[in-house]
Order: sequence, then C-alpha cells, then structure tokens
Amino acid sequence: MLEKLGTSSPRSERAADLYDWDELVQEDRIHRLIYTDPAIFQAEMTNIFAAVWVYLGHESQIPGNDDYITVRLGLRPLILLRDSNGKLRALFNRCAHRGTTLCRKDKGSARTFTCPYHGWSYLNTGKLRAVPWPDGYACDFSDAKFNVAQVPRVESYRGFIFATLNPEAPALIDYLGPIAKPLDEWLDRQPGGKIAVCEANRLKYKGNWKLAYDNSGDGYHVVFSHRSLLEMENRQADIANKGMSYYKHSPDSAPMYIAYMGHGHHFKDKRPNIEKRPGGLWAVEGPAPGTEYYAEDLRRRFGARAEQILDLASSEPVNINVFPNFSLLGNHIQVFEPVAVDETNVTWYGTAVMDEDGTLGGALAEVNTLRMRTQEQFPNFGEVDDLANFEEIQRGLAAQEDEWVYMHRGLGIPGRVKSDANGVITAPATDEVFMREYIKEWKRLMQASPRLTVQREP
Ligand code: FES
Ligand SMILES: [Fe+2]
Repeated sequence: MLEKLGTSSPRSERAADLYDWDELVQEDRIHRLIYTDPAIFQAEMTNIFAAVWVYLGHESQIPGNDDYITVRLGLRPLILLRDSNGKLRALFNRCAHRGTTLCRKDKGSARTFTCPYHGWSYLNTGKLRAVPWPDGYACDFSDAKFNVAQVPRVESYRGFIFATLNPEAPALIDYLGPIAKPLDEWLDRQPGGKIAVCEANRLKYKGNWKLAYDNSGDGYHVVFSHRSLLEMENRQADIANKGMSYYKHSPDSAPMYIAYMGHGHHFKDKRPNIEKRPGGLWAVEGPAPGTEYYAEDLRRRFGARAEQILDLASSEPVNINVFPNFSLLGNHIQVFEPVAVDETNVTWYGTAVMDEDGTLGGALAEVNTLRMRTQEQFPNFGEVDDLANFEEIQRGLAAQEDEWVYMHRGLGIPGRVKSDANGVITAPATDEVFMREYIKEWKRLMQASPRLTVQREP
C-alpha cells in the first residue's frame, strides 16, 4: 500500500517556488543562502534527502536475519534491518500510535519492536503485532494504517544499502551510473571482493552539509589545509613522498584527475600517482606506531608476497563520492548526515578485509590490525583541518552583504576540461568543475516537485 505525500501541499511550500534557483546557482558562483537559509535546508530534506538514493548503511552491519541499526534518511529516524525472512527494510523509527521512536539503540537484533510509551508492538516487517488491552478500542487494528511506515525502495549495491522515498527515481544501478566502476574496483581489490564495516570515527561540525560534499573532491586545498599532516607523515621519511605528497609542487601536472560522473557523483582518482608494483602503495603509507613490527613479521613469513598483503593495509588513493551523502576515501566509508542548516555529522566507518576464501594465507588478523592503524590517520590528523575550515566558512557566510561563493577554477580554459561519450567530465586535480556540475544537479532537484511515498505492510 502506498500513501501519496506532498501532492496536497500548498504551492508556497514547494521548494521549486522558494527562490529563483537560476539566480542562486550560476555558472561560476553560488549564493551564500544555499548554505545558510533554514528554508532551503528544509526543502533539501524532501527534494534531495528523500527524492534521490541516499546511503543508509552497509550489509555487514546487519549480517543476520533480525539484525538492525538505527540510521537517518535526512532527518527521518529509521530502523534499517533484515527482517525475519532476510528481507532488507528501512522502517520509520516512529510508532504508529503517537509517534514516539520505537527503538533507541544504535544496533541490535530483534524480531519485534515494542513501543516504550504504551506498549504497542510490531513485527520487524513493520506489521502491528499487538496492542495492550485491545478491548478499549472499537477498531480491530486490521487497517494497514496502524502498521509502521517504511521506505518503499531499499536496495543494496554489492553491500552498500541505499533508499529513496521517490517511486520515480531510476533503479539504483542507473542512479550510480559510471561511479559504479570505481566502486567495483575498490571492492575487487579486496580478497573475495567484500569488506566488513567495523568501528567509526564520529565527528560533527557547525556548518552546512554541502561544505563537506564540496570538499570531498577538492584537490586545491590539500597542501594548504593539510600542511601539518603532510609534514608529520614525511618527518622521518628518506624520500618525502609519503601520504598525499603528490599534491605538492604542481598537482595539475600529476597523473591524477577529478571526474564528474553524473547525478551529482564525482571521483578523485589519485591511483595513477602510485608506482604499479606490489608494495607500491605501502611504500607511501605514512608512519604509524607499531606498524614496522607487523610489516617485518609479514615479510619474514611471506617473503615477496608480503608486499601485496601490505598493500591491502594501505589507504587506496581514491575519493569516490556518491551524491548526496556517501564517500569512499582510502579504506573508509564516510557518511554525511545533515542535522540542521548549520550542523552536520560526518562519520568515518573503518572497513576490514574479510578473506572468506583464505587468500591471505593466515595473515588476515595482521592485515586488519595494520589497516586499523592506517585508518586512524586521516580522520584524526586531516579531517579536523577540513572541519575547522567548514566551520569558518559558515562563520564567514554570516556576512550577508557579501553574497557570492566562487567555484570557477578551470572554467573557460580551452582544453582543460574534457567530456567523454558517457558524459563523464575529467579535469586536472585542483579543478572545481565537479562542484559546478554537482551543484547544477542539486539545482535541478531543487526545482523539481518529487512525489514522495511511504509504504506500509498490507
Ligand atoms: S506512542 Fe507508541 S504505543 Fe503509544
Ligand atoms: Fe581535506
């Protein structure tokens, strides 16, 4: 059963009517209001964070039937679960009776959810199971409106779970389009083509969510914003090529590039900077306490093969950004979670190698231990630089009379930006073309009037 939402809302409440969007988003600049206006933020919660496929979580976080995690779709609290029959569902974490959240834990396993307020209980399919003292009700509760609302479309792409309230959204694979290829390459690098999400670095900043998405492909800021990280990584190095050193000197001449891949997605590919040989990636990994011992031990046990094994513990030099809230950086899954127009959670989930078929010959624990170390680096020593910038942008944008933010690096230079037959646009690493393109998609979505739906079990 589908319930239509939004079709009866007065015209004045539609995002499309809020502003002249072509005025706010121009070819080379955007208006400060898109980062500061609470009404635009509210409109994004329907036109973006419900109308397109939004990342919710990874299948390894709910491996068995009845497993759940609590997440959000925009501001909507959800219980993402695998029901007792193994079906992936995203239930609204909201009791059908009076609206209280049903589940207050981050994760767990449950066949039923009982509301803490008046004790209505639901199966993990969302169906109402029982209410206390039903003889006090004239109805028999067979009406589907008493079942928990849920997201009508929930799909997984190779373990990454996305959801949308928009029945007219394309299939997930079509939404991903060309960005599926770097996702595949990232996964296929792992033995068995699979990873498991492990624990997370949880950060938040006082700034708009788009500041993080703008930054996720930004190669212009790296050597300036992350100077201390680069220096720290190279302090003890014989050759100063550790970490993101390829951004130093002349990053636009380096073999890396930024690619815009449609639907707001973009991909920063830094892999061409790395020597293509076993151990090439490990060779540029920055120092971390205790890693030398593990590397030596693996080399002793595995000889030449150790280099390939060590590469698995190294950060893959990619930023794979799926609009609006998902990013694969190094070995992390980063999730952007809007909280308010000027507040955002950014969670960096670590990932572990699974090696179900034993390719690693008994080195799995060592690889994941090293991988945990390498994954501590960027969230702690790099992301904090970025978050400080985002907060300072939000403060700067309080200057109402100075209206515009620019994104015109690379614009109008003949031959700098190239497009292929699939619509993929590539440019040198510091180019802002990905911002210009994704914000065009954002504008198109804000001008639309999506017809969102929820579903309830019949
Ligand atoms: S609000 Fe859930 S049972 Fe009353
Ligand atoms: Fe950064």
